[in-house]
Amino acid sequence: MTQLIDQVDTSRLPSHIAIIMDGNGRWAEEKGQERLYGHFHGVESVRNIVEGCAELGVGYLTLYAFSTENWDRPRLEVDGLMTLLADTLRKEVPILNKNNIKLHVIGDMEMLPPFAINALQEALDMTSHNTGLNLIMALSYSSRWELVNAVKKIGIDVAAGKINPLDINQDTLQQYLTTSQFPDPELMIRTSGEFRISNFLLYQLAYAELYFTNTRWPDFRKENLYEAIIDFQNRERRFGKTGSQIQQTEAVETVAL
Ligand code: IPE
Ligand code: IPE
Ligand code: MG
Repeated sequence: MTQLIDQVDTSRLPSHIAIIMDGNGRWAEEKGQERLYGHFHGVESVRNIVEGCAELGVGYLTLYAFSTENWDRPRLEVDGLMTLLADTLRKEVPILNKNNIKLHVIGDMEMLPPFAINALQEALDMTSHNTGLNLIMALSYSSRWELVNAVKKIGIDVAAGKINPLDINQDTLQQYLTTSQFPDPELMIRTSGEFRISNFLLYQLAYAELYFTNTRWPDFRKENLYEAIIDFQNRERRFGKTGSQIQQTEAVETVAL
């Protein structure tokens, strides 16, 4: 029997996959449990998907773990999530190192409690030498926060005479985003049956392929990831051009090979 993974064309992987890991709370409530139980089980999915991406050879994986807006959740849930984050980071570092995974973080770190910042800093330092999968955690992140921050920093550099406002172009803006070191995501997955972006990488997702699944995050596994990648690989990405232009370019590239 052919397995799903065999249908994934590893020569045409999305270089960057971004995931809105949603549905933990509902997954738990459907089982008559507290929401935190769902977050706890969501960690197993993170482990599985990170491993899946590393095995395939995906270059970048961004996981939306906590949004700026999530600070407005009940105190108990926020505290539980921060503790879970710190515990998970400590526990996972050896596995990240074993799999050559380099951790990065994007978001407003100043909002995090000191114990979480410490655990995060430790994990960043201890994985900084790795050269495989780049795992980017979006924590206390929102796109509008990021864009406002970028504009502020550009304003400061303009005032200091470091940049001429007339020279500002898309590359300039890109350099001031928290994602300046990473390529734009090519595939964005959202779990749990919600069809929205929820303030995630608004600028960077301009040409990403969007994939929505009803699967709740704690049930999401490598097989679900493969399904999303196969779906991505069956799409025609036109970037504003016509289908026949794209097909012609592909035909020329095939001949060149
Ligand atoms: C995603 O699951 C995790 C976080 C936002 C931290 P949710 O907690 O949003 O779960 P639902 O959407 O309420 O089911
Ligand atoms: C988005 O999920 C944020 C994360 C997954 C971390 P939310 O559950 O917070 O988003 P909304 O409220 O449904 O838009
Ligand atoms: Mg949610």
